[in-house]
Amino acid sequence: TWTMVNIVEETVAAVREQVGDKRVICGLSGGVDSAVAAALVQRAVGNQLTCVYVDHGLMREGESEQVERDYVAATGVDLHVVDAADRFLTQLKGVEDPEEKRKIIGREFIRVFEHAARDIVAQAGLDGAAGTVEFLVQGTLYPDVVESGGGEGTANIKSHHNVGGLPDDLQFTLIEPLRTLFKDEVRAVGEQLGLPAEIVWRQPFPGPGLGIRIVGAVDAERLAILRRADAIARAELTAAGLDRDVWQFPVVLLADVRSVGVQGDGRTYGHPIVLRPVSSEDAMTADWSRLPYDVIERISTRITNEVREVNRVVLDVTSKPPGTIEWE
Ligand code: XMP
Repeated sequence: TWTMVNIVEETVAAVREQVGDKRVICGLSGGVDSAVAAALVQRAVGNQLTCVYVDHGLMREGESEQVERDYVAATGVDLHVVDAADRFLTQLKGVEDPEEKRKIIGREFIRVFEHAARDIVAQAGLDGAAGTVEFLVQGTLYPDVVESGGGEGTANIKSHHNVGGLPDDLQFTLIEPLRTLFKDEVRAVGEQLGLPAEIVWRQPFPGPGLGIRIVGAVDAERLAILRRADAIARAELTAAGLDRDVWQFPVVLLADVRSVGVQGDGRTYGHPIVLRPVSSEDAMTADWSRLPYDVIERISTRITNEVREVNRVVLDVTSKPPGTIEWE
């Protein structure tokens, strides 16, 4: 539409003006927001931009491969991939508090971006003014700012990792071209820029990833359990043709809760998995999705059959408010 053309043109012009001939990096998370932010900046400054994908070890099954493949194919952008799983898991070890997790994840992202920026200029053999990366692009949206308590008179509900979770000694100047937009507008911008539907219509996934979907401390074993359960839920939703009917479908592991079950002729003492499919317009409010019972049944049966550590699957029937979409 006319307005989207305007938003795109104005943003591209503003970014070009701000960046000049300097170098820029953009963190790609695999989600629509960072993909659209990157595409806008790429349009503005072309190959002065390098995208950085940080595999923090908190991604879902198959997700890292997908980002590396699809986004580069769609945009031809210069992509720098960092495997930082050990680093994130070490820093998160034993941490249970959701706000603390977000602050650690937000800080570690920045530390990894700083390293990546140095590597990128070194690899390109750049020096002088071109030899530093001054700008960092983030796909922050308006609701992220509001929830983090950044709006006029708003309470801090949770410090989104890329807003309230940023370290105090941040060296980059931030470029946040989507900071005044809602998700539907971001999707429209993405379509305007010609990004493929698989990217534009992906369900939202938080930057801290599965790290905030394990209630309790995060470790590799718990991540592996959740990753398998989540992959089953996603596969069954897709098989039922319902991807576009839900806004988002968090799958949550209650890692510190155990309940008694029976399987075969043996007693089990396993963990519950929570299914949290929601419908929403902008994530500010949400309602629980009335998924068909047969789909929920298939997900439940497969998870308890295929994921040994899980012996119970529960459905979250809370709207937002009073619940938030994520459990942490
Ligand atoms: P809640 O759980 O507050 O989430 O209802 C609203 C939307 O924001 C996403 N979310 C995050 N995204 N960093 C992100 O990039 C975060 O720290 C974060 N916390 C929540 C959540 O998935 C939902 O789409």
